[in-house]
Amino acid sequence: MQVLAALCFLVLAHLPPLRGEVVESFKKGPHCLDFFYKGMVPKWNVPKRHTVYLCQRFNNRYHFATLYNTDHRIAIYSAYRFQTGDDGGREDYWYIEPQLVNMSWNAEMEDERMLRNEDNINVDFGKKQALDEDYRGSIYDRGHLNPNGHHTEDSRTATFTLTNVVPQNRDLNQRVWNEYETDLQGDLRKCTQAYVLVGAIPSADNWIVKNNIKRVNIPDRIWNAYCCLGNNGRPLDSGGAIALNTDQSRVKRHTLSELKLLLGQYTKSPVGELFHNNCEA
Ligand SMILES: *[C@@H]1O[C@H](CO)[C@@H](O)[C@H](O)[C@H]1NC(C)=O
Repeated sequence: MQVLAALCFLVLAHLPPLRGEVVESFKKGPHCLDFFYKGMVPKWNVPKRHTVYLCQRFNNRYHFATLYNTDHRIAIYSAYRFQTGDDGGREDYWYIEPQLVNMSWNAEMEDERMLRNEDNINVDFGKKQALDEDYRGSIYDRGHLNPNGHHTEDSRTATFTLTNVVPQNRDLNQRVWNEYETDLQGDLRKCTQAYVLVGAIPSADNWIVKNNIKRVNIPDRIWNAYCCLGNNGRPLDSGGAIALNTDQSRVKRHTLSELKLLLGQYTKSPVGELFHNNCEA
């Protein structure tokens, strides 16, 4: 028994430590690439400045990946694998990314209130990310990019992290974008596997302002792209959509090639490929 315990200790002590959540690139965190079709990160030269790569970890597992802009304090996109959703439901709390406060902190999303203590009273938690207080009192919803309704259990809970949300028009979030997410849920059920990207096009100068400080960029548009695989992992279907982040908005469906052109125009950064081989067989 003691020998076994000693052996266990030896083995555990020599396992590599779990990697951090903030990584140098999605390739540097092997689990991050699982959320991209055939491990291919979108070929899209977004400006490198202020851009960080997040492998979203919760409860000791990785659940999705987010490309995040620490200046806008919103994501460029979140990438995930579709799971048949459960009831949807809601959480009452929002996580933040400890490693965006201090790289030596926990590599898992956490509730800000649990992170606060006497030793870090003077630490600026919101320097590189949006905090719950930024959204409090705002007319904008905390709009999920990776939606909770496309996941189950821990992966669903993990979507409730502020690095996965953007200031979203309430009407868009609760009406037409929500309907689109539900429709997509129906469409993607026929896939053996599906890879999804959901992103935001930042505005030139529209912000949630707190104490005269531009805190969180209010994006002009929200977009979605998906790649649906059938048996043998062959592409079966693909597409996406874009919506203006305004009242009375409509969700316009697009093919992947239309979407690439539009995203390129709106961001002035041309898009090569969103999915491996454009999700073609
Ligand atoms: C980061 O956290 C560590 C451990 O809590 C602390 O020693 C260090 O001073 C912190 N760094 C900064 C820049 O706050």
